[in-house]
Amino acid sequence: MPIIRECIVTTQSAEGRVHIAPLGLIEAGEGWVIAPFRPSTTLDNLRSTPFAVANFTDDVLVFAGCLTGKKDWPTRPAEHVSGAVLEGALSHLELAVESVEEDELRPRFHCRIVHEGNHAPFKGFNRAQAAVIETAILASRLKMLPREKVETELAYHQIAVEKTAGPREHEAWRILVEKIEDFYKHIPAAK
Ligand SMILES: Cc1cc2nc3c(=O)[nH]c(=O)nc-3n(C[C@H](O)[C@H](O)[C@H](O)COP(=O)(O)O)c2cc1C
Repeated sequence: MPIIRECIVTTQSAEGRVHIAPLGLIEAGEGWVIAPFRPSTTLDNLRSTPFAVANFTDDVLVFAGCLTGKKDWPTRPAEHVSGAVLEGALSHLELAVESVEEDELRPRFHCRIVHEGNHAPFKGFNRAQAAVIETAILASRLKMLPREKVETELAYHQIAVEKTAGPREHEAWRILVEKIEDFYKHIPAAK
């Protein structure tokens, strides 16, 4: 299996409107694959403007925010492609789509690296950040996952958050848990 790097992907609509979404970048030789599920704005944008910026950030509040409705994070124009770089990203890749593997569920956009930017040092692993990323993935798949699995995993991830989180991780965790609780509010718990 190829390595997958979780990042914030920015794309642009035909009208130049920037869209921000957490996505996994799939390694493919020298390049990377972006595989958005249908339907999605990222997918529509990659078709109309075949460029993307992969932003690598340790700010998990951006991941959690995107999944809970806050998508207006500050960006600046990319240097070599039509796109936007997330302010605060530790590093970023400017990508050009070279080919598309069509698929009914999840088309795969094969991208070439046009430019790489490094902005700030990686500060080391943090367990709460990893727990928030895992929880963000759960929160993006609530309709597909059994409730018991979600609640079991949430209880486990909470331990890392309680032991190792800083303020941004706590806030990211809070808004994700709120989203998950909202989703289940009107569904009776299984006996
Ligand atoms: C860490 C992480 C990785 C994700 N990776 C993908 C992905 O590879 N493909 C995808 O379609 N959605 C992925 N998602 C879910 C998308 O972020 C979410 O569905 C988003 O709204 C994309 O749709 P949009 O382009 O319409 O905003 C991921 C979510 C998280 C938190």
